[in-house]
Amino acid sequence: MMPQSSLDIQPVSKSLGAEIINVDISQPLSASLIDEIHKSWLENLVLLFRNQTLSDADLVAFSRNFGDLDSVPGWEPFSPDTHPEVLVVSNVQENGTPIGVLGDGEASWHTDMAYIAKPPPASLLYSLEVPDTGGDTCFMNMYDALDALPDDLRRAIEGKTLNHDSSHDSGGNLRPNHQMFTSLAEAPGARHPIIRKHPDTGRPALFLGRRLHAWIVGMDIAQSDALLDRLWEHCLQEDFTYRHEWQPGDLLMWDNRVTMHRRDPFDGGARRVMHRTQLKGIAGVEAAA
Ligand code: SIN
Repeated sequence: MMPQSSLDIQPVSKSLGAEIINVDISQPLSASLIDEIHKSWLENLVLLFRNQTLSDADLVAFSRNFGDLDSVPGWEPFSPDTHPEVLVVSNVQENGTPIGVLGDGEASWHTDMAYIAKPPPASLLYSLEVPDTGGDTCFMNMYDALDALPDDLRRAIEGKTLNHDSSHDSGGNLRPNHQMFTSLAEAPGARHPIIRKHPDTGRPALFLGRRLHAWIVGMDIAQSDALLDRLWEHCLQEDFTYRHEWQPGDLLMWDNRVTMHRRDPFDGGARRVMHRTQLKGIAGVEAAA
């Protein structure tokens, strides 16, 4: 029989996500507790820790329990404590200068940095200030999205690879120092199998990155667009998603290999300040057979 977890773990939706109750992650945690958190994360895909008080050093130390950290290439680390691993996600400006990235607009469904060869396995996002309304972050379970795929659609994508554009952010904006291409086949970025096997769980999942400027390698652009539109329409079912309404002091940690996320826009007059870390990608993830 499996040993019982000492953690109090409460699911937050039917599809994915669980809250770990009453663990103060600003404190050093035992190896066995880290192991339990890791197992629960693999099982639930998104973990929530509420009512935390974390300095950037605490956030970095907690994140490091799960692997080496990375910074986001091409984005300045804006951390006030000068931790290069901490990225500030915020709409706030100080003396006319943004203190962070992504502003107050919608961020469309995406996997973090699917456009590099080894995308981060995990991202962690900690809320310091949140607006009264708006700015919710939604997550999608890509195992379930694949499991529920109609047979013909699954056959149509089996063995296929997706080209992930690196030149636009999840708000659809051209990144600094990038130029627009004339054909999707020329979009810079990385290529990954559309169905990939999770390296720890062995379960296959869909890996879509983001819809904008994606191309199924080798397909006629119009056919690729039509197939991707069908895939995305299938995925955008509430059954596969969890909506997180933020409170200050929330830490969310998601498995970036088998989830996508998006963010609602919010009132630009309100303040939203989040600090984020991400784990360094260590190995290419295999296509599922
Ligand atoms: C992100 O897409 O990494 C940020 C999500 C958010 O601001 O809630």
